[in-house]
Amino acid sequence: MKNNPFSNKSFISIDQIQSPADIKYIFGVADKMKETILSGKIYEPLKGKTVAVLFYQPSTRTFTSFVAAAKRLGAYVIDINEMTSFSSAVKGESLDDTIRTIYQTTGADLIVLRHPDDTSSQIAASVQNIPVINGGSGTAEHPTQALLDLYTIYHKFKRLDNLNIMMVGDLKYGRTIKSLAKLIARVSKNSTITFVSPKELRAPKEFIKDVKDKIDITQRSSFGTEIEQADVVYMTRVQKEWFEKEGKLDQYEALKLKFIMNKHTAEKMKKDAIILHPLPRVGEILLEVDSDPRAWYFEQMRSGLYIRMALIESILLK
Ligand code: NCD
Repeated sequence: MKNNPFSNKSFISIDQIQSPADIKYIFGVADKMKETILSGKIYEPLKGKTVAVLFYQPSTRTFTSFVAAAKRLGAYVIDINEMTSFSSAVKGESLDDTIRTIYQTTGADLIVLRHPDDTSSQIAASVQNIPVINGGSGTAEHPTQALLDLYTIYHKFKRLDNLNIMMVGDLKYGRTIKSLAKLIARVSKNSTITFVSPKELRAPKEFIKDVKDKIDITQRSSFGTEIEQADVVYMTRVQKEWFEKEGKLDQYEALKLKFIMNKHTAEKMKKDAIILHPLPRVGEILLEVDSDPRAWYFEQMRSGLYIRMALIESILLK
């Protein structure tokens, strides 16, 4: 397609989205993918291409949607969801060497990588001359999640501007809110972001500084106030694995369920507001909220398939 800003490029960081035009482009392709899927049509433009999906951290949604996206487009897919135990990483092989190996042994045209290190996708993209998609790196970035989150928001509100977004939970370790906040700050006008977290889980200062330059932000340490004004309440889980790594499980226990979305809180929200969550949830949205019309986290998941199809096609199709 014309003016494709993604063609033959890695997608490592949400900072690569430069303008609303980039967003309009990828959302347009995602809409086309949605239409194809819903009409049951076969659309396999990537026949003959190979996509390797390599995950070093657990995943249900991101992994299956990347695999499904590549397969539905007709690509041949090598998918390993347990790289940590199946790859030579166990024997001490470096990420560079593993990426070289995957390229040589599979002839992959594209690699999708999830990895606990912040710079992993960048490293992978520098090793071979093939594009890499970041499927989540460390605590820093989850750019495809940000695209699908914004796609969900766009479809609900039919606009990118004038939105009040509240992000709740673990803003220190959570990567989804970082990519999404940066994206909204870049492409949305007259919007606000309210970050809500216990003091111990506040977003890193550097990140806040970066976002603050572009968008109006507020930080709070109590949940429930101002929820009436929000268009989107984006809940997140407290990220146990990072506490574990730092030997701070006691702190995790103390913080894990500080902010809970229950029926009562949901009902305080505007009628046409939405609740999102990248999932998995581990208690921060009660099941009783699922039947509330504002609960949009299941629709949000489906956006992942369309956006990832759109991205894979845009990168691989010349
Ligand atoms: C998120 C992640 O991996 O960062 N999950 C996802 O990709 N949907 C959020 C999380 O694990 O809490």
